[in-house]
Amino acid sequence: MQNIEAYQTSFINHLKEFTVNKEPKNLYQPINYILNLGGKRLRPVLTLMTAEIFGGNVNNAMNAALSVEVFHNFSLVHDDIMDDAPLRRGKATVHEKWDINTGILSGDAMLIMAYQLFENYKPSTFLALAKLFSKTALEVCEGQQYDVDFETRSDVTISEYLKMIAYKTAVLVGAAMKMGAIVADASEEDQNAIYDFGRYLGIAFQLQDDYLDAFGNPETFGKQVGGDIIENKKTYLYLKALEFLGTSERLQLEDLFAKNFEDNTEKIKTVKQFFISSGSAEATQREIENYTLKAFLILENLNISASKKMQLEDFGNSLMTRNV
Ligand code: IPE
Ligand code: IPE
Ligand code: MG
Ligand code: MG
Ligand code: MG
Repeated sequence: MQNIEAYQTSFINHLKEFTVNKEPKNLYQPINYILNLGGKRLRPVLTLMTAEIFGGNVNNAMNAALSVEVFHNFSLVHDDIMDDAPLRRGKATVHEKWDINTGILSGDAMLIMAYQLFENYKPSTFLALAKLFSKTALEVCEGQQYDVDFETRSDVTISEYLKMIAYKTAVLVGAAMKMGAIVADASEEDQNAIYDFGRYLGIAFQLQDDYLDAFGNPETFGKQVGGDIIENKKTYLYLKALEFLGTSERLQLEDLFAKNFEDNTEKIKTVKQFFISSGSAEATQREIENYTLKAFLILENLNISASKKMQLEDFGNSLMTRNV
């Protein structure tokens, strides 16, 4: 078993070989740009780690891991257009550095490249990976559409929100792990259990992403702090605040989320105060822990050693303390 940094390092070495310097430059440069901007490389590390946990070979899982990371980066390029986001990993987003059309087409090409990487596998593995990937990619689109639809709705429920984040984010974390299990020829039972583990962890991960979007440190976060507030995103923070606040403050918060401002400084400040004073910031932290614990419960049914379970728990716990 390797540690997280070792998986990251071998993955980044593999990623470097993937760099394409082809024409037209305006198609491929943005792809190299976003893929080499860094990021936590969480999903490919999970693919590699899971492959090894189920007795597979890390090198054999490398292209599946790369596929997941290329897909993830594709989804970020399009997500940043949809969210009107200026910053990604501390640098200009693709559509800011180039333009929206470049972001659309480079993103499309990355989605195709992600599929193409499965061609490196034998037919039965190819089929299993492609089936899982198609299902997951469609669910991500559904989640992203809900996310955008919710911006202009004022009656979003917590359960709708949870479904939305499960689709836009958590299924890919589950799939990243299941792909490692597929490459390692794990039993179907284990494949499904590790998928569920990743999915719960993914829900905790998105809750944390929403939390950091409001409360992250602008110096280190790498994205625009308050971006979700500007875009009127119906996050857990927001929905719980509505639930906890008294009538007058609730109306104030709803009013702020029904408007768009030229300068959002005051809006962000007031909304964050509501998130804290209502208790919703704390409730979000508790929910992150709840979903992480749900993930850990799944581990009980897995046919792997206690030390491997511990490694997965360590990973889950480390996500909870992240600040990027
Ligand atoms: C950002 O994902 C998008 C979400 C699903 C929350 P990450 O937080 O994993 O982004 P990078 O790859 O580390 O930059
Ligand atoms: C992103 O959700 C989900 C996908 C990219 C599919 P967010 O919009 O919250 O991700 P960030 O915060 O921009 O990374
Ligand atoms: Mg976004
Ligand atoms: Mg988004
Ligand atoms: Mg976010």
